[in-house]
Amino acid sequence: MNREDFPMLKKDIIYFDNGATTFKPKKVINKIVDYYENYTANAHRGDYDLSHKVDVEYEDTREVVRKFINAREKEEIVFTSGTTESINMIVFSFMKYYLNPGDEVLITKTEHASNVLPWFELEKEIGIVVKFIPLNKDQKVELSAIKSVVTDKTKVVSIAYVTNVIGDVRPIMEISKYLHDNNILLVVDGAQSVPHRVTDVIRDNIDFLAFSGHKMLGPTGVGVLYGKKKYLEMMKPFKYGGGMNSIFESNKEIEYKDIPLRLEAGTQNIAGVLGLKEAILYLQNIGMEKIEEHEKNLKQYAISKLKEIPNITVYNENTESGIIIFNMDKIFAEDTSKYLNHYHICVRAGNHCSKMVKDEIIVKNTCRISLYLYNTKEEIDKLIDVLKNSSNIYDIIL
Ligand code: ALA
Repeated sequence: MNREDFPMLKKDIIYFDNGATTFKPKKVINKIVDYYENYTANAHRGDYDLSHKVDVEYEDTREVVRKFINAREKEEIVFTSGTTESINMIVFSFMKYYLNPGDEVLITKTEHASNVLPWFELEKEIGIVVKFIPLNKDQKVELSAIKSVVTDKTKVVSIAYVTNVIGDVRPIMEISKYLHDNNILLVVDGAQSVPHRVTDVIRDNIDFLAFSGHKMLGPTGVGVLYGKKKYLEMMKPFKYGGGMNSIFESNKEIEYKDIPLRLEAGTQNIAGVLGLKEAILYLQNIGMEKIEEHEKNLKQYAISKLKEIPNITVYNENTESGIIIFNMDKIFAEDTSKYLNHYHICVRAGNHCSKMVKDEIIVKNTCRISLYLYNTKEEIDKLIDVLKNSSNIYDIIL
């Protein structure tokens, strides 16, 4: 990993907010500029060379994504604007028609808003019942807890692979086996897992997976919906318009294209899709196992150092991903974040879009460090130094 690849890392900041978004390597930025400067054209619409080049690159990205998550077919990859849109499509284009009143969907209280609110809305719309999987003392999901709430009405479990506040990694493979033995579908929010570890939708037998480009070195406004082909084919499109139909007549005869184009109405975020390809190639060149290992080591290092500071409480010591949540005694999380900002250290403070986490860990707001491949021990040392010398915090932030 070469930090020189990232223009943002040349600035005088320490960036620990990778759960929110990540910096982009020059290759990704250059790709987007190249598309706009040298071969701007729409995709899937033109018969000229320029447009053909865009078609080829756009569809090639689909193949790159397929390989990256080990999907069976590239038709199972749909480009969206991000995780939020992907999950909304799963809920309102598929589940709305697949589920019946009284059917139960299991989530947890540590899910991100994007994996809670669509389900709550569907509950209001069609009368499904959203239930919560109990978590253990470390706020983790265990298969036994899922078994304890599954009934013969349970049709779907929708959970993050890695949660964005607690940072626990769910035992998806084990959960998936049990669910499929019981005809229950598995929806996975991959926003915080796909950027950080190997993803294999076949190994884990995942029915639907959602993730975003901007959390994995790619541009904002692009993401992926993966779905098993048989389910994507059953989806009623979320959007109708250009690019997704083959025929429509004044007598209302309509024919739609096959998936995935049927689910990609309107001009897609072409620059975003091409940038996403570069981001994935960049990650693959380093290796997802290495990235995961690096974050794990860094997290352990950071936690051991944070624990040396008496007025700091870490809330998720026993979780596996590169996410650490903490507070300083008697200091609002937002104040800690402002204080760190004074030293050009970026962390996120608040409830991190997961407003039910407070039901599980008592505290409402926390400071979150979310690590990525370019973070270093030296950056952690600087953070620790600043936190250790925080007796003047209110002189600084007031
Ligand atoms: N979902 C993003 C986060 O966790 C924004 O920060």
